[in-house]
Amino acid sequence: MSAQSALERDTRGLAVEFEHVHHSFLHGDRPVRVLEDFNLRIEPSEFVSIVGPSGCGKTTALSMTGGLIQARSGTVRLGDEEVSGASPDVAFLFARDALMPWRRVRSNVELGLEVRGVPKAERRERADAWLKRVRLHEFADSDVLHLSQGMRQRVAIARTLVQSPRVVLMDEPFAALDAQTRALQQEEFIRLWEAERPTVIFVTHDLEEAILLSDRVILMASRPGRIVADMKIDLDRPRTQEMRTSEPFRRHFEELSAQLRHEVDHAEALRAAEGGDS
Ligand SMILES: Nc1ncnc2c1ncn2[C@@H]1O[C@H](COP(=O)(O)OP(=O)(O)OP(=O)(O)O)[C@@H](O)[C@H]1O
Ligand SMILES: [Mg+2]
Repeated sequence: MSAQSALERDTRGLAVEFEHVHHSFLHGDRPVRVLEDFNLRIEPSEFVSIVGPSGCGKTTALSMTGGLIQARSGTVRLGDEEVSGASPDVAFLFARDALMPWRRVRSNVELGLEVRGVPKAERRERADAWLKRVRLHEFADSDVLHLSQGMRQRVAIARTLVQSPRVVLMDEPFAALDAQTRALQQEEFIRLWEAERPTVIFVTHDLEEAILLSDRVILMASRPGRIVADMKIDLDRPRTQEMRTSEPFRRHFEELSAQLRHEVDHAEALRAAEGGDS
């Protein structure tokens, strides 16, 4: 894709659809079933969280959406198109911010645009606009090693959103942050998301975070990974931390937490029975 068409791209969220997806990995010569008949449709601009026990296939599902791995059978679609590799419409955000320490703050934000061949002046303008939005414009020329963990994650958020992605894949993005910084980042991210509303698939182990941010929460079970609950979240937007104490929030939490605990216990029992090998 040329730089020109990358800039003219439609930035509205794209639907994501998994249809009868099956996947297994080889452990030695033994195939281990990871996803089995995984079916999920995410509407354009929907914010969907996935929670579930460790090893149930959450990262695998994200990697398939991003074209990093291909399902053994079944179909994953972005909009009307089957995923066949990395797409310029899709951006990732992980727990480890993966900033490049030898690049300055602005230059880290520009990275995705650079890869797409966006001209230098335009890269700089867009990066600076995003650095303002994450309140880091004064640090544009700083060394990333001098930033706090929360500031680094804001650089990573700017680097992801500056690309105007239509789908954002987030794998435990706030897991490395302390509770206070995490709450700030959640609010900040949701505020930025609300401006352009890309579709988001958000993987987390934190059920409260999932409820607070999402339109829908998907609960998965493991061995093989599959969906056992799909709950629409009944909270207004914009979301705030105060909503954690609201009646609908508590109700969603109560309904999902018992089931999540059950699935985590079950997954641990299975792992123990298999001698600890995951
Ligand atoms: N490249 C790989 N090769 C072999 N097995 C893999 C590979 N990637 C993942 N697995 C296995 O597939 C299963 C699902 O892994 P996945 O990383 O998707 O789980 P997850 O739900 O993201 O877990 P966590 O919450 O711990 O991040 C696990 O049993 C894991 O060991
Ligand atoms: Mg994972």
